[in-house]
Amino acid sequence: MATKQWWKESVVYQIYPRSFNDSNNDGIGDLNGIIEKLDYLKELGVDVVWLSPVYESPNDDNGYDISDYRGIMDEFGTMEDWERLVDEMHRRGLKLVMDLVVNHSSDEHAWFTESRRSKDNPYRDYYIWRPGKNGAEPNNWVSFFSGSAWQYDETTDEYYLHLFTKKQPDLNWENPKLRKEVYDLMTFWLDKGVDGFRMDVINVISKAPGLPDAKVTSDRKYQWGGEHFVNGPRFMEFIHEMNEKVISNYDVMTVGEMPMVTPEDGVRFTNEKDGIVNMLFQFEHMDVDSIPGHSLGKWAINKEWKLTDLKKIMSKWQIAMQEGNGWNSLYLENHDQPRSVSRFGNDKNFHEESAKMLATWLHMMQGTPYVYQGQELGMTNVAFERLEDYKDVEIHNFYRDVVEDGNEDPDMIMEAIRVKGRDNARTPMQWNRGTNAGFTSGEPWIKVNPNYTDINAEQQVDDPNSIFSYYKELIQLRKQHEIVVYGDYQLILEGDEQIYAYTRTMGDENLLVVTNFSDGKPVFKLPEHISFDRKELLIANYDVRDEEIEEFTLKPYEARVYKLK
Ligand code: NOJ
Repeated sequence: MATKQWWKESVVYQIYPRSFNDSNNDGIGDLNGIIEKLDYLKELGVDVVWLSPVYESPNDDNGYDISDYRGIMDEFGTMEDWERLVDEMHRRGLKLVMDLVVNHSSDEHAWFTESRRSKDNPYRDYYIWRPGKNGAEPNNWVSFFSGSAWQYDETTDEYYLHLFTKKQPDLNWENPKLRKEVYDLMTFWLDKGVDGFRMDVINVISKAPGLPDAKVTSDRKYQWGGEHFVNGPRFMEFIHEMNEKVISNYDVMTVGEMPMVTPEDGVRFTNEKDGIVNMLFQFEHMDVDSIPGHSLGKWAINKEWKLTDLKKIMSKWQIAMQEGNGWNSLYLENHDQPRSVSRFGNDKNFHEESAKMLATWLHMMQGTPYVYQGQELGMTNVAFERLEDYKDVEIHNFYRDVVEDGNEDPDMIMEAIRVKGRDNARTPMQWNRGTNAGFTSGEPWIKVNPNYTDINAEQQVDDPNSIFSYYKELIQLRKQHEIVVYGDYQLILEGDEQIYAYTRTMGDENLLVVTNFSDGKPVFKLPEHISFDRKELLIANYDVRDEEIEEFTLKPYEARVYKLK
């Protein structure tokens, strides 16, 4: 059995501060707004809050472009507000995990303004500068957010690398001085009381020496260069050093955001013996509804995705981590992903049922569950008519690249944005039926989803049958039954395209988790190898009487969890 750790037994709630709660009515969420809602989080029963970046930032990428790692963004409040937030959280037994964004900084960070001044500036090597090649970029890498990953800078006639927007220059981890700066800023926050870090795209910090060209795999101008920086050559070494110099001095949790990793990487990075983080965010299940290898990447929607594909992905992660003593993060949503009920459920005809089903399916797996703000209410995707209503830099860069500079059909691309765009997750939190869903009485920085009159916290908190109450129950199950945290996972009914069912086993106990991912009524048959004397229904999203479980018909998006002994 996996060793016991507080961060395995916890449920994490992610707050995207800009869209959570606005206390001063400037249209932007803030720290005092979060403090006002801490009792709501207590009521839900979560243990840890992960706060997306609240540091000073020009907000090219909503705080993921940091201009001062030790300062608080004016729009969000002051350092005193932050200190009050951490005190109020600790007083309620909540832990605080901060975002650590150190693959890149903002181009408005003092390090960068110095760095770009001259080739012999002491900060020059804090970033990755190269001369052009034959009058063009130093290599052919594409940025995660469209276009070249290089930006020309006149002052010194060189280019700097930016894997994200041009206002997010990559930091040079090869430079020990830069690494020391990062460790110092981490220590600064840990000494102020933070309980851990979520490390932004941490597995791309080490780039291959010489920054070679990427293989040409598409007919586009710039190419995906991941082979030269995903899990790069010195990545493990750098994080080992970070652990030794900083993390090991504190009892805190770390979670690495890691695109393009396999379960084998997952074990390498999280195993208890010589891993580098407690857990990680992998992306394989987030790609299940995209067309593999398509030049539009995540925007190429695969409407025909199969449940068996999702089973393969989830099960291989579950089994690998279990066998390799690693640990999974369990998530279906965050600020970069569309809303799960719209994506994997049915937000029209079975909104409540499918939101609860997805929650059951996720929370009963092995790993630490993450709840993204509004997920506990079943918040849905938004469908803005006009491009201007979207605020995300990724969306606008993509549109420019493929419609204005390319020849894709604008209607098709707008549809892709409605389905996959990150702003689906960034509309204001829906607190009540009042103006702007109770988020602000000012003009919200991004429009509220018009369905807030039907989907909001006020309506759900006291309703025992609401999605919110269901989440509460699920979270409590984790506290009451060790098997939910530590039991071994096994997939059953492997080939079924409607039912996702699995067991968790610990000693002579089994959890049986049965979920229907369809609006049909499939029949569940218990495999013969599962025997039991007693059964107890732990949770279900429909009314279930004392039924036989050897065989039963599921209702649309039904979910049930039994404890068998
Ligand atoms: C991942 C973050 O989650 C995303 O929001 C951000 O745009 C990129 N990293 C760049 O920091």
